[in-house]
Amino acid sequence: MGVIVVVGAQFGDEAKGKITDYLAADARIVVRTGGGPNAGHSIHLAEGSVVLHQVPVGVLRSGVLGVCGPGMVLDPRGLDEEIRTLQERRLFKGSLAISERAHAILPIHIAEDAWEEERRVATRPGAAIGTTMRGIGPAYADRYGRWGVRFGDLIRPARLADRLELLYATKPHLATTLQDRERVRTELGEVAARLAPFVQPTEPLLWSAVERGDTIILEGAQSALLDVDFGTYPYVTSHHPTSAGALVGSGLPPAEVTEVVGVTKAYATRVGAGPFPTQVEGDMGAYLQREGGERGATTGRVRQVGWLDLVLLRYAARLNGFTSFALTKVDVLGGLDDVPVAVQYVTPTGETLTDYPPADADELAHVTPVYEKLPAWPKFTANLERRIREEGARALPTELKQFIEFVGRETRVPVEWVSYGPRREQTVWLGKPHGSAPAGSVSAWAA
Ligand code: IMP
Repeated sequence: MGVIVVVGAQFGDEAKGKITDYLAADARIVVRTGGGPNAGHSIHLAEGSVVLHQVPVGVLRSGVLGVCGPGMVLDPRGLDEEIRTLQERRLFKGSLAISERAHAILPIHIAEDAWEEERRVATRPGAAIGTTMRGIGPAYADRYGRWGVRFGDLIRPARLADRLELLYATKPHLATTLQDRERVRTELGEVAARLAPFVQPTEPLLWSAVERGDTIILEGAQSALLDVDFGTYPYVTSHHPTSAGALVGSGLPPAEVTEVVGVTKAYATRVGAGPFPTQVEGDMGAYLQREGGERGATTGRVRQVGWLDLVLLRYAARLNGFTSFALTKVDVLGGLDDVPVAVQYVTPTGETLTDYPPADADELAHVTPVYEKLPAWPKFTANLERRIREEGARALPTELKQFIEFVGRETRVPVEWVSYGPRREQTVWLGKPHGSAPAGSVSAWAA
């Protein structure tokens, strides 16, 4: 009940889509509040697998409304295709609303994303951010520069022509021919006509739902450490994927939030450039990449892998106010000799850091993590999975329970869900922590 915010607690790709989809079983509305086609939320259903880039996962459930919220930047062509594909595959079971305030990513933004990366590399080799090349940064820059084209403009042909003319005036460095511009305008007009029935004011829908007492989930995209201000700047995305950003990106007031769920893998991954203190290379790195299927759902890039980093997790917990964690991909670590977890950093000057990483990306790149090694749990087998389905969290291996309690204790945020595979049913709820239990403790198997 209430408004549940789902936030990535690491560098993205924590399986937020899977957790949101799981929680959506009890929700009436699921809202994407930021980002756009840079996200790739993989959902594995009995009917087949699907990767959603812009459409909220809520549309996969009948009776659920998916909302592309005001904070998003959406590629109209990609969105149109995604909707059509879901409809053709009969996976579009709910309904969809697109905020008239959401901004459009235009072909010129995608060209600009590439141009900017080229300029960075040409000026200083190694300065590339490694963006997803979906036009995200330039579209947000135009949003804040007030040159943007909103979906409310897109569906009004005369307004669209007007806004495009202004926007092109800001980009003489991206020479486009008149013919190109005409073609883009015509194409956009056609796509906009198909999307128009979905475009509407979305905030009143959310406010009414809150008044009715419906459950609303704000589906995070990207993650706390990719936040434009609080992440590893400049190796970040261009919006606020934190819990506060989810409110700005939806139009819901802070007082309505009932839960903030941080989604974290049992290890860590990062794609694109930027510091990654607990990165693991060599054979172990290759093993985790292989076992975890660590390849980007949007770009196909191989993700760098590393151990769980409690300094960053504590930071993300404080920044977002997590009320619980969903711990994902625990099966990937099954059968290892032990599970290292970074509990603190030591800086080159000998300072110890436990919950506030340096704001400077170069400094963060030069810390030395201090690891504690926890006993590893056995590999997940069909038999173990059957027992978890039948008996619940009690059937989880003892070593995994110790790991879960360790994460809860160290971050002071209890783990409430554990995901041990990509499918919907491979998630177990550990129960709400008892009111009297210390922060971070788990009640399920003690009961
Ligand atoms: P952009 O969001 O395309 O501008 O990319 C900026 C940075 O964020 C790059 O390092 C991307 O790899 C990273 N990034 C953006 N979206 C995601 C995501 O959904 N998962 C993981 N990394 C992402």
